[in-house]
This record gives sequence, C-alpha cells and structure tokens, in this order.
Amino acid sequence: MINSISSNKSSNLSGEIVVPGDKSISHRALIIGSMVSGKIKVKNLLESDDVIATANALRRLGCNINKVNNFWEIFGNGIGNLFGSNYELNMGNSGTGSRLLMGLIAGSDVEATIYGDASLSKRPMKRVIIPLVKTGARFDNPNNDNLPIKIRGSKIPLPIKYESPVASAQIKSSILLTGLSSPGKTTVIEPTLSRDHTERMLKYLGAKVDIEQQSNSFWKISLEGLPLLMPYDIEVPSDPSSAAFPIVSSLLTPNSNVKVLNVCVNDLRIGLYKTLIEMGANITFSNKREVNGEPVADISASYSILNGITIPKSRVASMIDEYPILSIAAVKAQGETHMEGIEELRFKETDRINAISKGLHSLGIETFDTKDSMVIKGNGPDCKLEGKISIESQLDHRIAMSFLCLGMITENSLIVENTDTINSSFPSFVKIMNTIGAKLEYV
Ligand code: S3P
Repeated sequence: MINSISSNKSSNLSGEIVVPGDKSISHRALIIGSMVSGKIKVKNLLESDDVIATANALRRLGCNINKVNNFWEIFGNGIGNLFGSNYELNMGNSGTGSRLLMGLIAGSDVEATIYGDASLSKRPMKRVIIPLVKTGARFDNPNNDNLPIKIRGSKIPLPIKYESPVASAQIKSSILLTGLSSPGKTTVIEPTLSRDHTERMLKYLGAKVDIEQQSNSFWKISLEGLPLLMPYDIEVPSDPSSAAFPIVSSLLTPNSNVKVLNVCVNDLRIGLYKTLIEMGANITFSNKREVNGEPVADISASYSILNGITIPKSRVASMIDEYPILSIAAVKAQGETHMEGIEELRFKETDRINAISKGLHSLGIETFDTKDSMVIKGNGPDCKLEGKISIESQLDHRIAMSFLCLGMITENSLIVENTDTINSSFPSFVKIMNTIGAKLEYV
C-alpha cells in the first residue's frame, strides 16, 4: 500500500520518548555478528525495512539469524566463510546495506547479485567497486556505477591501502569488512573522519584497529586482518538521526519540552545537535554513559528562538543525514543559514539539495543552491506559513519525515505523499511523534 500522511499545526509537544535503534549500528551488528566465532545476542536492533533487508540478505547467504523474544540471535560463521554462487540479494532502499554487504562478499569465496528499488538503483556504487577490485573482488562490469551488480569475492583478499576521495563511512566500512579476511593490514585514508561504528564494534569484539590523524590532517584507519572476533553481545543505542525529528519539532513548536532517552551521542554523529546549539537551541545532554564502546545519553530540547549560521564543510560528515531536518529548523531561524561543502547530499536516497529547495519553494521560502552548497533564508520565529501543499517523498525517508515536521508549524495541513519509505529507518515515526503531541494522520 502507498500511504500519504498529513501533518497539522501543533503546540505544547511534551514527554519522554525512546526512538528505535541506530540504523548504522544495526546493519553492522548483523554483518559483523555473522563473522564472530560463536553466537551473539543483539538487543534493540532497528527493525526497519533497510535493516531487515540486510538480515534477509545474510540469511540467503547462509547465516543463521533469528529473532527470539525481544532480541536477535546471530550464529557467527567466523571470518571469510561464506560460499556458493547465484545468490540474488534484494537490498530495497538501503545504500548502507548494499555497500557493506559488497565488502563482506569481497572477502569470501561467494558470488552474488545485489539489486534494489528505484531510488537505490540510481545511487553510485563505483565508490566501493574501485577499492574492492584492488582486493581481488571481481564484478561483472566494473564500470557499472548502478545496481544491479554481480560481485565475486575472494577467499584470500589482498590487504590494500586506499585513499578515499570522500569522507564516507560506507566506503571505509566496506573496505574494512573485506580487510577482515585479508592476511595483512588494510588501511583507509579519508579527508575528514566519518562515523566510526565499524571501528568501534570491531575493537569491542577484539580486532586491532588504529585511527590516527596524519600531518596533512587526513585520517588513517588501519585494521589487522584475520582477527578472532569474540562472541560478545551487542546492545544498539537509539538513533540520533531519528531523535533529530522530535528534537527539532520541539525547538520549533511553542511551549514544547521533550526528552529522548538512550541516544547514541558518538561525536561523529552529533553535528546537528552542535549546530542547533550554536543557532541558539535549548538542547541538553544528560545521563552520559558508554554502551559497548559507544557513548550514549538522554537529549532534552525545548522551544527556542534560532539564528541562522554558517555550517562549515568540516562538520558535514558528522551530520550528513541531518541536513533535511536542519533545513526545516532554518525556516524558522532569524537570518540566513549557509550550508557549505554538502555535495554528497546529491547522492543520497534522492538529490536532497534539490528535494529540500523544491519543497521549501512550494511554501514560498527562499533558498539558493550551488553544486555543493545551499542557503536558506529564514522567515523568523513569528513566520506564518500557509501550508495547504503536498510534497512528494521521492522515496527518501528523511525528506518525508522532515517535511512532516515542518507541517507542525504551518497554518494549514501539509501532506507528504508516498510515505511508506519512512519504514526504511523509523517505522514507528507517526506513533512516536503523535505520543508527544504531533498531529500526523494517514490520508
Ligand atoms: C552510513 C553512512 C552515511 C549515511 C548513511 C549511513 C553508514 O553514508 O549517509 O545513512 O551507516 O555507514 P556515507 O558513508 O555514504 O556518507
């Protein structure tokens, strides 16, 4: 069924909520869990379409993964132990699942074809094919940038040193996953540090991973191949990218005060929160602790008057998925919000720079963009936006959820069409947002 959701003017958002498990850590718990020596339990795994696509792909490849009561059980096969050919893996909407699985497959004697939905089939894959070919993986057509793609891995991949042109955790993780079954040291260099969940999880399970900044300020991540990965259980913290929706909604909606519990606050994921605080947001972190190598805290936010600022390129990697919701906050800010160095947004589930500006223009908000930047002219805290429009999700969950948050401050309802895509990352979005006082309705 293809759904549309209407969002209606709201106020007084309040409550303590828990959003689902982190998507990045959930993909990694499944993939890395399939390589431990023994059985592990994963708690609070995100049960969204993207993550379930990864679980199902691993099952097809022969991994034994089951949901038991409120946790998932993974029987690890050790490193590099997948085998067989002619597997067909449907990765749905998931770029992370596709690219990380290519890394896993590249390090085993296995052949598979990866395919996905219309959005995923347009996304660039050469960025992982180029380094994986260097490890010895073979592709039906290495010049093909798009799914479907057939890949054959090697039982003993070569250890490589790869300088990535972009700071991308998907590229880095794909290479490191192949490097696990390599008899040597695999090194990835990236211009700024991208999210390090793969490195943290591998270290937690006993692998040797080093991260250091070079004299040219680039980051070098090295992994010793063939570690023994210990079967330690994993608890997935809540997703800061999902928490961003109730948090930004309470900043924008008068008389609001909301707390989101148990959120992953890894420094490489909280660029949005730092940016909002610089814009004047009342956001606080409390109850800080560590859960299997990941920092976790509760995040509180209340209604705030925001000011436009410039967000430099150096912050992009730590808030790469949050520009759509930041753009919604920028609408109510005083002055302009400048986003620099954001070209990677053009390669997400849709071209997000284009989707954001198109949606905001339909509400009469002025934006200006270049290939790698965007400016949003804030209408100020007292702005009255008419609403009465409908926005197409473009099969992008974060575009859909961001515009539904904007609908909470428009005078009339705002409809987002084709919202099933929200299930990619936050299946309980409508229910949780309505718990704190949003007025979201399926239409
Ligand atoms: C992710 C990395 C990011 C992010 C994506 C999840 C990951 O992509 O946009 O939603 O889990 O590694 P890139 O690495 O391509 O920037």
